[in-house]
Parts: sequence; structure tokens; C-alpha cells
Amino acid sequence: MANKKIIIGNWKMAPSTMKEAKVVFGGIKKTASGLRNVQTVVCPPFLYLSELKKTINGHRSVLGAQDSFWESSEKAHTGEVSPEMLSGLGVKYVILGHSEKRALGESNEIVNKKVVACLKEGIRVVLCVGESQQDEHGEYTKFIKNEITESLKKVQKKFLDNLIIAYEPIWAIGKSATRVASPEDALEVSILIKKVLADMFNKDVAMKVPILYGGSVNSDNAESFLFEGEMDGLLIGRVSLDAKKFSEILKIANSVK
Ligand code: PGA
Repeated sequence: MANKKIIIGNWKMAPSTMKEAKVVFGGIKKTASGLRNVQTVVCPPFLYLSELKKTINGHRSVLGAQDSFWESSEKAHTGEVSPEMLSGLGVKYVILGHSEKRALGESNEIVNKKVVACLKEGIRVVLCVGESQQDEHGEYTKFIKNEITESLKKVQKKFLDNLIIAYEPIWAIGKSATRVASPEDALEVSILIKKVLADMFNKDVAMKVPILYGGSVNSDNAESFLFEGEMDGLLIGRVSLDAKKFSEILKIANSVK
């Protein structure tokens, strides 16, 4: 059987109350529990993780974090959350290198430290890469290649089982998206990502790393990214806060062959 599709909801800094978070998560879990071909991952703000964790039974929907620090908990770092704290809470996935964090100054070097620390802790890393604009000479492909090689520096091959790469073109994310990427855009970049990984590690390992697409995914375009775009999953922002719409995407992913 083909691998399960990985559908990740990135809630960003929402919803604004725990009560709403529980309602949305409850709705998503209800659908996810009946879908055997999908791994559902919800990444709420840190504050909601432990309460939501209490409501989980089974493995079909799990929690992820939207960031992690790289140092262990003994060191003094005001305001940060360590990989051990996350895994201690039962967090299975972590989004790292999201463009909204990079826009606040997060460099590839910082992303790299976080990737290494979280992989060592046994958390599945969802490394986000993506260009701010495309150009006809293909310069943007060099940008993506650089993001991957710098973010994965010193990562040992044995940890790659826990790596996922999400291609999120910045021009296609959020309310200010200039256009939705096409399944062809996603497929083209996923081939590039696999080539970069094959050059860094080896081909066998590279082919196993799941590649996700993210940026204005909704129930109308989800199937095309999974089927024509051959994506292994999706990283979804806005729509993941609407349990009904997100559930529709989960069901679509469950039935894509
Ligand atoms: P969007 O966000 O689905 O709202 O475009 C995607 C993301 O930022 O991960």
C-alpha cells in the first residue's frame, strides 16, 4: 500500500482561546479517526498543546509544534521552548523554517541548529523552504537549493527517516498570496528537492523523504496537488482552523490513490 498522505494544519497564532482550539481540534479528530490513509497533524500555538494532548486517543491525529529552540532545557534562554519539552508533551512533529519566522530574521543557520536538535530528540521535522518570487532564469531554484543544504548541514543520514520537506512558495501563502501555485510548480520543485537530497545524502534516502506542498491549499485544489502534483501531503494554514473545510481535505487525501 502507498504511504499515508501527511496532512498538516498550521494554526499559526490562532484561535484566540483554548475553548475554540478544543472545538476545532475535536472536529478535526472526529473525521481523522475514520481515515486510514491519512496521517493528520495539527500544529497549534504552544500554549494549547498540553490540553489538546489530553483529548487524543489513537494515532490518526497527532500534535505538532510550530517552532522549537535548539538548546537543552538546562540552559538559560528566556521565552524559549526546548525539543525535550515538546517530546515530553507527546509532540510528534515540528514545523521549522517557516517563511513567517524567516521574515522576522531566522537564518538558515538558526534553522539548521533547530533541525539538528529536534531530529536528535526524535521529533519529525517539517522543514519549510520556498522562494519569495520566481524568475524566468530559474535563479529561485538556487535559492531553494541553498535553503536545503544550509538547513541540513551536519544532519546525519540515520535521522532522515524523520525529515519531511514542505515546499511553500512565499508568493502563494496567506492572504497576500499573488497567485496559487499550480500542481506543476509543486512537482517541479519536489524533483529539485529530491535531487538536492540525493546529492547531499544518497538517492535511496532522498526518494523516501516526504515532500509536502503548502500555500493557499483548499478543498478545491487539494486533490490536484496530491494527484497531479504527486505530493506526499499538504501544509495548510488558514483552512486548518475551519474543522469542516479541513476535514473535507482530509477525506480527499484519504481517497487519492
Ligand atoms: P495558507 O498558509 O494555507 O494560509 O496559505 C500556509 C502556511 O503558511 O503554512
